[in-house]
Amino acid sequence: MERTLSIIKPDGVGKGLIGEVVSRFEKSDIRIIAMKMLWMTKKQAQGFYAVHAERPFFDSLTDFMSSGPIVVMALEGEDVIAKNRKLMGATNFEDAEEGTIRRDFATDIEKNIVHGSDAPETAAFEIGYFFNSFEIIGA
Ligand code: CMP
Repeated sequence: MERTLSIIKPDGVGKGLIGEVVSRFEKSDIRIIAMKMLWMTKKQAQGFYAVHAERPFFDSLTDFMSSGPIVVMALEGEDVIAKNRKLMGATNFEDAEEGTIRRDFATDIEKNIVHGSDAPETAAFEIGYFFNSFEIIGA
């Protein structure tokens, strides 16, 4: 059993895609074990994306991620990190496979609807960034 963090980004929430994304998880044998909506400050977004601090897109990314409400979810399942990444599609929606969330809805490499952890270590950091143990079902 593995865990990962999913975020429906401000563009996904703004486009009314919360139900769509949740429904894709529920149809894919992915269990939602924690979920909440929140609005990050710029500082909180900078902390979340600290690994990208040196990237040229960091300032714009953290502005965007603190521009509106997001939905964060902890997901659990077998190979859930890879499964979630397959459902999301490539970071750049133009490279994403047909039928993936980003291919279907993203408009921009930055405004790409969803985020998903890329490895078990990042998943542990990212889940812990938003949830304490009392908020995770089965923790
Ligand atoms: P995400 O999976 O949340 O991880 C880092 C985010 O940075 C990425 O999705 C995009 O929203 C954003 N981003 C903006 N420009 C780039 C870029 N050139 N390469 C990768 N990620 C980018």
